[in-house]
Formats: sequence, C-alpha cells, structure tokens
Amino acid sequence: MLLTLDDVSKSFGGLMAVRQLSLAVEQGEILGLIGPNGSGKTTAFNLISGFLKPDSGGIKLQGKDITRLSPPKICASGIARTFQMVKPFSHLTALQNVLVGRLYGCSPAKTQAEAREECYRILDFVGLAGKHQILARNLTLVDRKRLELARALAAKPKLLLLDELMAGLNPTETDAAMRLVRSIRDSGITVIMVEHIIKAVLGMCDRVVVISAGEKIAEGSAQEVVNNQKVIEAYLGKPRYA
Ligand SMILES: Nc1ncnc2c1ncn2[C@@H]1O[C@H](COP(=O)(O)OP(=O)(O)O)[C@@H](O)[C@H]1O
Ligand SMILES: [Mg+2]
Repeated sequence: MLLTLDDVSKSFGGLMAVRQLSLAVEQGEILGLIGPNGSGKTTAFNLISGFLKPDSGGIKLQGKDITRLSPPKICASGIARTFQMVKPFSHLTALQNVLVGRLYGCSPAKTQAEAREECYRILDFVGLAGKHQILARNLTLVDRKRLELARALAAKPKLLLLDELMAGLNPTETDAAMRLVRSIRDSGITVIMVEHIIKAVLGMCDRVVVISAGEKIAEGSAQEVVNNQKVIEAYLGKPRYA
C-alpha cells in the first residue's frame, strides 16, 4: 500500500469532522473520495498532508509513520496537494509560482536552470504554454486551477491529493482536466481526488470511498457506490447532485 489511514479521527470543538476513518490507497490507482458538503473530505486531506494533526489514529506512507510530521516533511516524503480554494502567490508569475514548488518539493532541483526547464515542461503539460510570464492574479479561474496543479506536480510527488479540481469548470474544461489527471496517473503518480462531478468520478476512479458526517459509509468501484442505497440517501439523492 502506498498510503494507509488507520482509524483516524479529528474533532473541532464538539464537532467530529472525521470519525475513525480507515482507508488504503494502492500504488498507481486513482481513488475517489466523495460525500456531501461538510462531510470531512478537505479535513481528511488536511490530516494526510499534515496541516492538521489527528486526535487519534495513524497515517502511513509506504509503511512509514507520517502522522506527526510537519507539512514540509510530509511533502518531502512524497505527498503534494491542491487546495479547494486555489491559493497561488497572486503577485508572482505563473512560472515563479511553479518554481516555488520545484525548489521546495519532494526532490528539489539542483540548480535554478534545471528547475526552470522542468517548470516550463510542467506548465506546458497542464496547458499553460505561453502564459509563463502572466501574474497569477491575472489568470482566469481555469488557468489558476491549472497553475495549482502545476505547483503540486512541481514537487514531484508520489501521491497527489486533488481537492475539487474540477469545481467551476465547464464541461469542455472538465474533459480536459480528466485527460490531464489520467495522464498524471499514467506517469506513475497515485491520485486521491475529492470531486462532486459524478461524471468525472465514474470516468476516472478505480475505486471510491464515500464519507458522510466524517464516517466512511461505502467503498467500492464507482459503479458500485453510485448504486449503493446508503450513498444515494446520504449524498447522490439530493436534488443538487441528481
Ligand atoms: N478549521 C476548522 N475549524 C472548525 N471547523 C472546521 C474546520 N475545518 C472544517 N471544519 C468543519 O468540519 C466539517 C467538515 O468540513 P470539511 O472537511 O471542509 O468538509 P468537506 O470538504 O467534505 O466539504 C464541517 O462541518 C466544517 O465546518
Ligand atoms: Mg472540501
């Protein structure tokens, strides 16, 4: 297993945002993490990436306990993430934003020149060719999302956590993002994606874990979970996602 969560819980005051969550991610898969708003998906990502510490339970990456490591150490051991609320350095160019990822990631580049070359390639790969010098604050939403992905990829992760990467994209942009995530996986990076766009979940995920009120309520293939009665009641049945 690449990543395992073992009985992980996290409360905020009286609210148990993540409740005894256990899951395992295999090397090379795309795992979907879905559930209603407020069910604890982003909190789970915050726990995996070290921005929050669990109250109990453990997290392992390739068998090594990472539960108490700081976010930079977790990044250095091979986990990168995107943020649901994209957070580029708005006063820096697209290239400079990705350079930050490349110089402080899992296996930082040896020289500025090498980092720059790699960042050009990554920017081209995510669809930002020709936009290297644009300030992040002047990019459109879809381009800021591409930049967010590029910054995470620049860290050269083994495991990539995507938090609602496709939210706000139109159908054409969503299809392009799906192709991009598939080719990221094909390049050897394991992916956990939090996503509300069911078409993307069905089209991409090898396996899906469903959480509701912080608890895992189902797990299986995308087809299995979308036909699961508990999942329909807790999540899919709601008109917003019908
Ligand atoms: N830092 C925090 N402080 C207090 N409550 C939080 C914090 N982060 C998340 N929550 C609460 O935890 C629950 C789960 O939130 P979140 O993980 O963001 O859900 P999701 O990503 O599934 O929509 C929500 O009720 C949310 O309000
Ligand atoms: Mg969220």
